[in-house]
Amino acid sequence: MTKTGRLPENHKRIAVIIGASSGIGKALAGELSREGWRLALAARRMDLLEKIAADCGLGTLIRRVDLMESEKAAAAIESLLDELGTVDLFIISAGTGHINPELEWNPDCDTLLVNVTGFVSMAQAAMRHFLRQGHGHLVGISSIAALRGSGGAAAYAASKAFQSIYLDGLRDLARLRRLPIKVTEAQPGFVDTAMMKAAHPFWAASPEVAARQILRAIRRRAKHAYITRRWAIVAWLLKLLPRAG
Ligand SMILES: NC(=O)c1ccc[n+]([C@@H]2O[C@H](COP(=O)([O-])OP(=O)(O)OC[C@H]3O[C@@H](n4cnc5c(N)ncnc54)[C@H](OP(=O)(O)O)[C@@H]3O)[C@@H](O)[C@H]2O)c1
Repeated sequence: MTKTGRLPENHKRIAVIIGASSGIGKALAGELSREGWRLALAARRMDLLEKIAADCGLGTLIRRVDLMESEKAAAAIESLLDELGTVDLFIISAGTGHINPELEWNPDCDTLLVNVTGFVSMAQAAMRHFLRQGHGHLVGISSIAALRGSGGAAAYAASKAFQSIYLDGLRDLARLRRLPIKVTEAQPGFVDTAMMKAAHPFWAASPEVAARQILRAIRRRAKHAYITRRWAIVAWLLKLLPRAG
């Protein structure tokens, strides 16, 4: 950053994507690399990351991180951020979820470790880096599920509500520090990825369409965006309609 807050003309923008091995994160990597960003991609499946990095071009870095082990993951990402130096954009797309109406412990525990503890470890590493460098843009991908409790996936919905409020808190922290650090919450409805599991629910967007809409929100420096935009109608109804029972 220059003193005027503008990036120098020869600066190649750098983005880190956590959860870049498939789905929305992979599609974001494709879109950003076409726009000329330098990328650092992280997830557990290194074989997939290697293929994606080859498509994204020279200079793309990859790292294995498992958000189930959040302290180790945070250390790996902190050292990646130090290696990269100035980082413009940090996207947390990694997430997991289970249908668990029987309330078994392990699926809910997985969800909380990845979507809550793991998410916080990544968001903290990114924000600390941005606070040190004085600018940056953090993006978290929550879910429309954050809007209501879910009998079939109580832990998933609650974990996404946590992400939503946590991102709001980080945005407030940047405001208190009077720094040009932006925080965007992308809140998808259905996106046709491995996570969606159910076959062809209504209004499912392709990961590429979702990625393009997330990037539009990033360019607008929006605090929040429904992905796709039509999910704003569902959100409005969910907030308005009383709960059954
Ligand atoms: N698809 C939808 O309908 C939908 C709707 C609302 C919100 N979302 C949210 O969108 C985000 C992306 O999901 P997606 O739909 O793109 O699903 P996806 O294709 O299954 O991608 C999930 C990504 O998270 C990574 N991940 C999962 N567990 C991880 C762990 N323990 N450590 C590190 N990385 C991990 C996966 O990488 P590895 O397995 O290689 O580690 C993968 O890159 C998630 O946060 C999800 O909750 C999705």
